[in-house]
Amino acid sequence: MSDRYQGFVSSPIGKMLAKNLGLPSPTPLERYAEGAPLVRGTVLVGGDGRLTVQLPGVLDDLGVNSTTEPADDETYKALVFDATGITETTGLVALQEFFSPLMRRLDTCPRVVVLGTTPESVEGSERVAQRALEGFTRSLGKEIGRGGTVQLVYVSPGAEAAIASTLAFLLSPKSAYVSGQVVRIGAHGEQEAAPVPDWTRPLEGKVALVTGASRGIGEQIARVLHRDGAKVVGVDVPQAASELQALMRELDGDHLSLDITAKDAPQRIAHHLKTGHGGVDIVVHNAGITRDRKLANMAEDRWASVIGVNLTAPERITRALLDEAVIGDNGRIIGVASIAGIAGNVGQTNYAASKAGVIGLVESLADDVDRGITINAVAPGFIITAMTAAVPFATREVGQRLNAMSQGGLPVDVAEAIAWFASPGSTAVNGNVVRVCGQMMLGA
Ligand SMILES: NC(=O)c1ccc[n+]([C@@H]2O[C@H](COP(=O)([O-])OP(=O)(O)OC[C@H]3O[C@@H](n4cnc5c(N)ncnc54)[C@H](O)[C@@H]3O)[C@@H](O)[C@H]2O)c1
Repeated sequence: MSDRYQGFVSSPIGKMLAKNLGLPSPTPLERYAEGAPLVRGTVLVGGDGRLTVQLPGVLDDLGVNSTTEPADDETYKALVFDATGITETTGLVALQEFFSPLMRRLDTCPRVVVLGTTPESVEGSERVAQRALEGFTRSLGKEIGRGGTVQLVYVSPGAEAAIASTLAFLLSPKSAYVSGQVVRIGAHGEQEAAPVPDWTRPLEGKVALVTGASRGIGEQIARVLHRDGAKVVGVDVPQAASELQALMRELDGDHLSLDITAKDAPQRIAHHLKTGHGGVDIVVHNAGITRDRKLANMAEDRWASVIGVNLTAPERITRALLDEAVIGDNGRIIGVASIAGIAGNVGQTNYAASKAGVIGLVESLADDVDRGITINAVAPGFIITAMTAAVPFATREVGQRLNAMSQGGLPVDVAEAIAWFASPGSTAVNGNVVRVCGQMMLGA
């Protein structure tokens, strides 16, 4: 399941061939190693707005080295620009003035984060100027290169003190395969964040339910949540019981073998969590299937099974856990959508409908949840797993290269994004759908 093309173009002869033939030459992405600092290098902070004064303190609390004074001979690992002070379009030139001279002074796999004000929370010229930031960051993401990522974080007025968990994710190698994204903080409900006493184990004392946990992306979600301190309760079909049990033993977790589409699955899960763990803090709806066919050849059972596993089951389980108050205060509900649910895909009308429905679940519940509970989703692009290994070679190659990083992502990339949503510090991160797709050229 490794990326053989990337291996080849990293060799001396492959490098030369790729250069001469104009082929993509993907940069090996840096990924987070347990215990490593969040940022290896200096973060340069620029701009002028509501967040400028507090930014150095927030970064300092995260153990990140930052400066507000660019030095001629320095290179930077990350740039954070506070654009919340831009209230009319003429002020947008501040972006060009700050970023242009710095673009050749970035380390490998650099990070860029632009902070803006949620456009819907302001009016007139300010709304126009703030909305413009989206085009800037999405374009810079496509041109930054060398494994770099660029994001826009809209911070609603009142949510200024809730940005730390998001910066910790977006500035670190945990966001290796996330780029060109727009995140909203404080746009729905809560605007404050719960404290995070230890940023290396933010989920200490939390109980996390992960469906489809026996392999692939689900296995990595279980591993990352465990690394961050959570007790993981893994769910998978009875056929996967031995793999699930072995993994949960390794992670000192708990397991529940059931088909999530079973009529009594929501009640069984609720009962298991209440009696065995006193409830649950984090619910990750990862289990999913594909049954691809063009619509002309789509039999009813292929349609029904995909909608059943990917959408109806997460919705029923979520509603049961909320109705019976099994999810604790400051709880987290996290869906796994897909780029197919945003851009559509040939042969996937059933799958794309189910994944767009997961986004609908986020949108419909984000304003209704209370007690500090949030609901968000990740939308993975091409992730190298058993599911995508089954895709024919040519389609797989196109799928892997058609993004700003010219490579597929790893299951851990999806898991890290989920761990960010799961953090107690992410109370104000609600109602978001974040793509983990290397900024794929398809879709928005
Ligand atoms: N791999 C990708 O590129 C990609 C891209 C976008 C979205 N996704 C989504 O990510 C999630 C994980 O994908 P993956 O690639 O790891 O797939 P996978 O097939 O490797 O793993 C899916 C897991 O879900 C379990 N599962 C399936 N039906 C179930 C049911 N009825 N009850 C309980 N468990 C069930 C399976 O047994 C399996 O362990 C899925 O929701 C998938 O749609 C994957």
